[in-house]
Amino acid sequence: MDMNQIEAMAKAILAEDAALVESLLGTTYYNGGSRCDAVLDEACRYSLMAGGKRVRPALTLEFCRLFGGDPKNALPFAAAVETIHTFSLIHDDLPCMDDDDLRRGRPTSHKVFGEAYALLAGDGLALDAFGMAASNGAVSPEARVEAVRLLSAASGTAGMVRGQIVDMFGEQNTLTYEELLFLHAHKTGALIRVAAQLGVLAAGLGVDSPEMEAAVGYAERIGLAFQVIDDILDVTSTPEAMGKSVGGDADHHKNTFLSFKSIPEAEAFADALTEEAIGLIQPFDGSERLVALARYLAVRKV
Ligand code: IPE
Ligand code: IPE
Ligand code: MG
Ligand code: MG
Ligand code: MG
Repeated sequence: MDMNQIEAMAKAILAEDAALVESLLGTTYYNGGSRCDAVLDEACRYSLMAGGKRVRPALTLEFCRLFGGDPKNALPFAAAVETIHTFSLIHDDLPCMDDDDLRRGRPTSHKVFGEAYALLAGDGLALDAFGMAASNGAVSPEARVEAVRLLSAASGTAGMVRGQIVDMFGEQNTLTYEELLFLHAHKTGALIRVAAQLGVLAAGLGVDSPEMEAAVGYAERIGLAFQVIDDILDVTSTPEAMGKSVGGDADHHKNTFLSFKSIPEAEAFADALTEEAIGLIQPFDGSERLVALARYLAVRKV
């Protein structure tokens, strides 16, 4: 397959998986019903249903499929991961954090609903996500508990939130390359890794299985490549193309990959990580979908 075919395949996979996860999120949870405050529901829907590449839920569904599970069994886990990711974006854009005005092609949550609603929509999404994962009746109670534990570890003070701390307070000093790897592994890598792990759990496999090891190895590499590309696009892309503010990394003196590498070097690094990731899953029958996804993400323009 040439790159155009790979890209078409990856986009079709992302669209198929997005439709599944969006139907669950928009009907069962944030559906305009009386389950929660109407404006809060609207604020949650506004950020959740605004598009987004849906890379993380796709990983959950695709790892479940790869290892013989029905992707529908992974759906509540996939929805939980995307919900946590969306909360992290709402908070990431707040004036006290990156202070951005545009996200997923729309004005940021705090610009539309005000800071208190944006903060609370983020809080609500973060906490709802654990209920979504715990309610996955398609898997064993043990797998559900493990999923909740892994999600908490990946997103909480030892995971994504810790990465955001290093990102924010790194603005005032220069990180070493090792510290930058730590920052990226936490702020972005941890959620991408857990997305893959939850897919493996939904396929009925345990944390000690060889399949889990391969999934984690793949996800750690594409997770790092994902943030490398995000750092490049912050310099090379436009708000129109990305649907989010760009150029903020330099304005905020963020530590990024481009503090250490030229753009071609950073691209080559993302490519090398991608090929390593692919090597880990290629032994499994049916890996073509995740191979295409990894290759597409390394050359993505949004
Ligand atoms: C943006 O994530 C934040 C990072 C961790 C780089 P995505 O690039 O996955 O954003 P959406 O979900 O497509 O909007
Ligand atoms: C955000 O990283 C990571 C999380 C939201 C946890 P960035 O600050 O680089 O993401 P963008 O570029 O605003 O999407
Ligand atoms: Mg940030
Ligand atoms: Mg940001
Ligand atoms: Mg960024």
